Amino acid sequence: MERYYDWFDAGRFGMFIHWGLYSMGARYTWLKSHEKMTDAEYDRYVRHFNPDRFNPEVWAALAKRAGMRYVVFTAKHHEGYCMFDSKYTDYKYKERDLLRGVVDAFRAEGLKIGVYYSLPDWHHPDYLHDKRHPQRDIPYEGNTEGYRTYLHNQVREILTNYGRIDLMWFDGSYPDTAHIWDMPRLSAMARELQPGILISRLPGYDDFATPEQTIPQQGLFNEDGTPKHWEGCQVLHGEWGYIRDKHWKTVPELVQMLVRHTSRGGNLLLNVGPTSRGCLDDHTVSLLKGLGDWMDWHERAIHNCSGAPAEFPEPEGCRYTWNPEKKTLYCHFFCWPERRIDLPNLAGKVDYAQFLHDGSEIRFTETLPGNIHGPRDPEDGALRLALPVSSPENCAMPVAELFLKD
Ligand code: GLC
Repeated sequence: MERYYDWFDAGRFGMFIHWGLYSMGARYTWLKSHEKMTDAEYDRYVRHFNPDRFNPEVWAALAKRAGMRYVVFTAKHHEGYCMFDSKYTDYKYKERDLLRGVVDAFRAEGLKIGVYYSLPDWHHPDYLHDKRHPQRDIPYEGNTEGYRTYLHNQVREILTNYGRIDLMWFDGSYPDTAHIWDMPRLSAMARELQPGILISRLPGYDDFATPEQTIPQQGLFNEDGTPKHWEGCQVLHGEWGYIRDKHWKTVPELVQMLVRHTSRGGNLLLNVGPTSRGCLDDHTVSLLKGLGDWMDWHERAIHNCSGAPAEFPEPEGCRYTWNPEKKTLYCHFFCWPERRIDLPNLAGKVDYAQFLHDGSEIRFTETLPGNIHGPRDPEDGALRLALPVSSPENCAMPVAELFLKD
């Protein structure tokens, strides 16, 4: 069934933003649960939350430049604090509707809008004390009907008050809590209010899979073998929210991460965690800029691309992406192969090859299938690229662009 996947599949790259009170604790996103904090203890964050440097226009510009095509913003995380103006609660930032700021800024840059909404709520008095709840040591069955009404009301607000919402990212349904949300009604409401919306993480009612902090080696497939729509959500360090003391991934690692998604037909939803003052820290900005530098020259190896046809197996140390419309194959060099590399099964099929970052020709030789070849020739049926001895400078990851013959 055709289901509005076009922008999602073509875009391939989005920004995930985890922002809430946990950015103040700055140690882990789940701190209220991990430290079994009471509402009274957590309240110090409510009282001192002051996003005086909130600047979503800068986030949106960085996302745009990094080649991202959509955003997913946490309107409410498990802590229950609302980053949007809900009339159903006082537990929200009251000075400004932060979600609106984000929606306006990213929409102005032409990005699609996704909203993350946590199904569990560690603050709402009607929410049961499940085994992840901060107050799990005090048994409480909750008032399912009361919480469900609150949740549906809030989702209706989000899907009514902010114009077009392209994607709704529900999170936190577990087998022991799945009965609470009334998922059939929730998904029906979302699809009625926003025809064409994509939904994630509503088991049985969602439109794509969301592997988290892992990258499926071979992509994901339905039972009938057709490829699944998927989006891996990944982090810049080990956590979602802002963390003060952390170990960062590098720009080349992030570029590889993006390619590992696209080359298996998936999207990368790359998370950032703004500080409690509402800005991105310098290191995050420098990583996004680094990604942007690469995407600036290489975006056509990502957007509108997917994995290569099975007849073209990837050579060692490389990943392929493939634009089916343009019949163009992109070979991403994860490790530099030295002066030559043989690409299996491509002999006789390539019209022209070049590096993408500078448009310089890559010369090649080939051994057509079944032809006798000497020890210095390419493997049977392979196309051999002649490469510089060391990898091109100033390029987080070099890419060969191969135009296939019609
Ligand atoms: C996990 C985490 C949640 C986070 C989400 C993002 O489900 O538990 O805190 O928001 O991943 O994908």
